[in-house]
Amino acid sequence: MVLSLFLLSLLASAASAELSKAVRYACQSPTRDPLKGCPKHTLLVDRSASNSSHGAERFSTIQSAVLSLPQDNTTQYILILPGQYTEQVNISRPGPLYLLGQTGSPDSVGRNTVEVLWHQATGTATTGTLDNAYTSTLTIAPTLNSSLTGSGPTGNPVPADTPFGNFDFRAYNLNFTNDYLPYSAGPSLALSTSYANTGFYRCSFSSYQDTIYVGKLANSYMSHCEIAGQTDFLYGFGTLWIEKSELKMRSCGGGITAWKGTNTTFENKYGVYIHSSSVVAANSSIAPAMVGKCALGRPWNAQHRSVFAESYLDASIRPSGYITWGSTDPRVTNLTMMAEYRDFGPGWNETGRIEGNVTRVLTAKEWEPYSSPAKVFQYFKSGKTGNVGWVDWWA
Ligand SMILES: *[C@@H]1O[C@H](CO)[C@@H](O)[C@H](O)[C@H]1NC(C)=O
Ligand SMILES: *[C@@H]1O[C@H](CO)[C@@H](O)[C@H](O)[C@H]1NC(C)=O
Ligand SMILES: *[C@@H]1O[C@H](CO)[C@@H](O)[C@H](O)[C@H]1NC(C)=O
Ligand SMILES: *[C@@H]1O[C@H](CO)[C@@H](O)[C@H](O)[C@H]1NC(C)=O
Ligand SMILES: *[C@@H]1O[C@H](CO)[C@@H](O)[C@H](O)[C@H]1NC(C)=O
Ligand SMILES: *[C@@H]1O[C@H](CO)[C@@H](O)[C@H](O)[C@H]1NC(C)=O
Ligand SMILES: *[C@@H]1O[C@H](CO)[C@@H](O)[C@H](O)[C@H]1NC(C)=O
Ligand SMILES: *[C@@H]1O[C@H](CO)[C@@H](O)[C@H](O)[C@H]1NC(C)=O
Ligand SMILES: *[C@@H]1O[C@H](CO)[C@@H](O)[C@H](O)[C@H]1NC(C)=O
Ligand SMILES: *[C@@H]1O[C@H](CO)[C@@H](O)[C@H](O)[C@H]1NC(C)=O
Repeated sequence: MVLSLFLLSLLASAASAELSKAVRYACQSPTRDPLKGCPKHTLLVDRSASNSSHGAERFSTIQSAVLSLPQDNTTQYILILPGQYTEQVNISRPGPLYLLGQTGSPDSVGRNTVEVLWHQATGTATTGTLDNAYTSTLTIAPTLNSSLTGSGPTGNPVPADTPFGNFDFRAYNLNFTNDYLPYSAGPSLALSTSYANTGFYRCSFSSYQDTIYVGKLANSYMSHCEIAGQTDFLYGFGTLWIEKSELKMRSCGGGITAWKGTNTTFENKYGVYIHSSSVVAANSSIAPAMVGKCALGRPWNAQHRSVFAESYLDASIRPSGYITWGSTDPRVTNLTMMAEYRDFGPGWNETGRIEGNVTRVLTAKEWEPYSSPAKVFQYFKSGKTGNVGWVDWWA
């Protein structure tokens, strides 16, 4: 009896932690009963819902659904119906949480029907000087302290007893936008994630400055996504792997990547890896003015690590590839890794890279230690690599 209950609970937990592609597609597909095909207990968000709706409970905001969930390790699902949701979403629970956008075309980011929208920036006379964390459309972090960017080479000192936050967050077919102004006007984040494992599949992220913050002890995996920005639009302290995605440059400012490395007692692989992706001007009207002007990145601190690997670069990329932080403050030492491996397209200029003397062009042997998500995603505290149980390879 005791044994069979034990087995049953094991089976139940195995089943609940898994969301097969078939079940996910069935759940996401628009049907008369929107929750048809979804895992049991999936919450429903419908922007046009009122509290008096008949039938299943509907939440009118994503955040109200998130706040109704227990702060525990259970696996939870939220299905979001089409529309624009003007709100900040903040997730601090530890257990697996999967957000699904309703769509008849789950294999197309271009046909996503849900946009989560916020409009806030910081760091200018008109916006005030709040920490970047407060501007983000989506936040996944256990505490406020863990999510603060802070200042100086090591950023906000996060208290040592801070626990890890969400260990398996996934978003499918959702757009996250911070539309403060249609140009760089201070940090305005679409995503802020720290002390968490987060996966994004066919999602879009758009803003102009600091679009994506992958902060301390964060592991983030994105595949088939679109990321639009102008200045330092991939930044952070953690580890970000971008696979088969499109980076859209909305103008050239700073660099595409700006990372801060950290000294640890174990060898760390913190950094941003862009693999099998394309890096292109956001549209053809702005492309001509950008030729040869955009930098792949610049070192936010001297231990910056980023690699663009096996990716297509359009003509917007400048001959040198990367740049120093500034002429009087280069922030480049032998610890800096601003690298490329087998990039191609008009933005790849071998002579330019050599003359520029700031980009490291990796050999196959030098790329090998970073060449897959399992080699770079590390476990909390131990620093062991292979932390990929939360990655959906088949999305
Ligand atoms: C119902 O309305 C209240 C007050 O506006 C709100 O706090 C609550 O989250 C709503 N419930 C749902 C299910 O949306
Ligand atoms: C929740 O899961 C994490 C990761 O598996 C584990 O470290 C933690 O102890 C669990 N917490 C509880 C309250 O079970
Ligand atoms: C989501 O983003 C994609 C890609 O940029 C776009 O084609 C789509 O129209 C957007 N959907 C919404 C609802 O904003
Ligand atoms: C996110 O929610 C947590 C938990 O409620 C809170 O401590 C934190 O301040 C929030 N973060 C932001 C950036 O508002
Ligand atoms: C944030 O961390 C600082 C120390 O780094 C501490 O003084 C402060 O109380 C913490 N704030 C919260 C809300 O935990
Ligand atoms: C092209 O991109 C720029 C920068 O995001 C934007 O301001 C402009 O409206 C876009 N033009 C077209 C035709 O989409
Ligand atoms: C890491 O250690 C190196 C060598 O001691 C030092 O130069 C650098 O400033 C340190 N960086 C950080 C971010 O602490
Ligand atoms: C980096 O340079 C310093 C001296 O500036 C040297 O002590 C150190 O060994 C070098 N580190 C590596 C990894 O080459
Ligand atoms: C490649 O870089 C070199 C050196 O900076 C430059 O002279 C040349 O014009 C560049 N070629 C292209 C096609 O941009
Ligand atoms: C390239 O840069 C390094 C410093 O990063 C410097 O020591 C070296 O002299 C430079 N080489 C050329 C050819 O400018």
